[in-house]
Amino acid sequence: MHNSHFFQDSFDEGTHTKLTLLEKYVRAWIPTFIHTNRIKEIQMFDPFCGPGTTEKGDKGSPLIVLREAVRYARKYSSSARPPIRLFFSDSKLKELEQLQTNPEIENAKKYIDVRITHMNFRDLFEKSRHSRKDPSIAAFFFIDQFGVKELSCDIFFDLVNSPRTDWLAFMSSSTARRFLKEECFKSIPQANFGALKDCHRELTEAYRQLANNPEYFILPFSIKKGTNIYGLIFGYRSPTRCG
Ligand SMILES: C[S@@+](CC[C@H](N)C(=O)[O-])C[C@H]1O[C@@H](n2cnc3c(N)ncnc32)[C@H](O)[C@@H]1O
Repeated sequence: MHNSHFFQDSFDEGTHTKLTLLEKYVRAWIPTFIHTNRIKEIQMFDPFCGPGTTEKGDKGSPLIVLREAVRYARKYSSSARPPIRLFFSDSKLKELEQLQTNPEIENAKKYIDVRITHMNFRDLFEKSRHSRKDPSIAAFFFIDQFGVKELSCDIFFDLVNSPRTDWLAFMSSSTARRFLKEECFKSIPQANFGALKDCHRELTEAYRQLANNPEYFILPFSIKKGTNIYGLIFGYRSPTRCG
C-alpha cells in the first residue's frame, strides 16, 4: 500500500477486505440505535476519508458509510429513528474536492446530514470531543490511517473513556514491529513482538493491556499482504455498561 498511488490503481485485495469489514460493521452497528430512546443522534466520523473512489472507480470508505446510512435512513421514517450526521475530513484538499462533487453525496443529503471539512485528524478529533462525551450521541470513528501513529496512546485513552463511541482502526502492524523503538513510534503502546505472523494480534494485545478494562472490547483482524501484515482493531464498550 504505497501512499502516493493509493487512489490511482484499483484497491488491492487487502484494502477490499478492510472495506468489506467496514461495510458489514456499519450495517450491523447503525440499527442497534433504532429501538433505544436514549440516543438522540448518530454521528459517524471518517477523518481519513480520501476522495471517495479510486481512479478505477472502486468505492472507498466515505461512500460505503454513506450508502449504509442512507439505506437505514430510508428504511425508518425520521420520527422512528435518531437523525444521522456524517463527518468526512482529510488533510488533502484535492481528495475532498473530488468527494464533494460525487453525486452520491448530494443525493444522500435528502436523508441525512453530511459535512465535509478540510482538517487534520487531531484537529477534527479535538473539535468532536463533545460528541464523544455526550452519552446521548452514538458515535463511530473509522481511523483509516497510513501507518500506525495516529492511534496514539492519548487518542486511544480518549476513545476508551468515551461512553458511546465505537471505533475501527487500520494499523500497519508489521511496520510497527520493525520500527517500534524509533522515536516517532513512541506514541503507540510498546508491544511485545514475537513472530511476524502474530504482530497484529500482539499490537492489539498491547492496546488491550493499556485499556486495562475487562468491560471494554478490543479485537484484532489481521490482513496479510506479501511480506507485510496489516490489520483492523475494533474497539467497543460492553453494551450492558452503557447506562
Ligand atoms: C488510507 S487513505 C484513506 C482511504 C479511505 N478511507 C478510503 O477507504 O478510500 C488515508 C487518507 O488519510 C489522509 N491523511 C493522512 N494523514 C492525515 C492526517 N493526519 N489527518 C487527516 N487526513 C490524513 C490522506 O490524505 C489519505 O486520503
